[in-house]
Amino acid sequence: MAGLFDKHAETYLQARPSYPSEWYSMLAARTSHHSLAWDVGTGNGQAAVGVAGHYEQVIATDVSEAQLSFAMPHPRVRYVHTPQSMTEDEMVALMGGENRVDLITVATAVHWFDLPKFYKLAKRLLRKPGGILAVWAYNDMVVNPEFNTVSRRLWEASMQFWHADAKYVIDGYRNLPFPFESVGLGHEGKPTQLEIRKELLFEGYLKFLKSSSPFNLAKEQGVDLLSEEVIEELESSWGGANLVRTVTYKAFMLAGTVIE
Ligand SMILES: C[S@@+](CC[C@H](N)C(=O)[O-])C[C@H]1O[C@@H](n2cnc3c(N)ncnc32)[C@H](O)[C@@H]1O
Repeated sequence: MAGLFDKHAETYLQARPSYPSEWYSMLAARTSHHSLAWDVGTGNGQAAVGVAGHYEQVIATDVSEAQLSFAMPHPRVRYVHTPQSMTEDEMVALMGGENRVDLITVATAVHWFDLPKFYKLAKRLLRKPGGILAVWAYNDMVVNPEFNTVSRRLWEASMQFWHADAKYVIDGYRNLPFPFESVGLGHEGKPTQLEIRKELLFEGYLKFLKSSSPFNLAKEQGVDLLSEEVIEELESSWGGANLVRTVTYKAFMLAGTVIE
């Protein structure tokens, strides 16, 4: 999967929404200590930097060196490239041992992971009691009724190009296995619903689409979901290229502690 993210690392940086700062306060208020956090699948580090506002040290890891090359520097965040070949014991050693991590965050990435392997590692690393794993993502973008109708058609056309692992995102993580005890922010089968607002020009919206994996997978298979006509239709329902719109991303989160 790393390859998929390597190629689009720069577009990704420009196009994606940032997560609201309240999300980090909400999580920090639920962990018993605030010394160490691990942001996994950190990409350009936006969640790592958000978490760093509340924790003394953040280790931010990714399998993609290309994504990490765009990571935002922060004095409390240490970015580390962790290739798939790293063993569980090597990951534990990187975090300084078991039972030490207060918060693990996985922003728009856990659906790509080998879940049983990742959850086993997370359970070893989390502080017990009091450490929390939080995973979140978003799947839909709401602009205005006319635009939503056009974009829904495009979304449906993209369906066949969703990677099997990303299907958890289509379901809003409702089917994502999450064997952790709820801390009041969703539980297995019932994620907490959240929203992210962002001001965007039409060009920003297009960049967002172009950085999405189904659009890239379609292109790799010779299907251009974003033909001239589709772009024109989208732009006209947006209201023109120069209009700034408030876009609402529909997000969902699951957070929990180790069941003892
Ligand atoms: C959609 S991006 C999200 C990046 C960032 N967390 C954000 O919210 O903007 C997914 C990231 O997960 C990384 N990734 C995919 N599989 C991974 C794995 N098994 N371990 C660590 N990172 C992984 C990718 O390289 C990519 O940077």
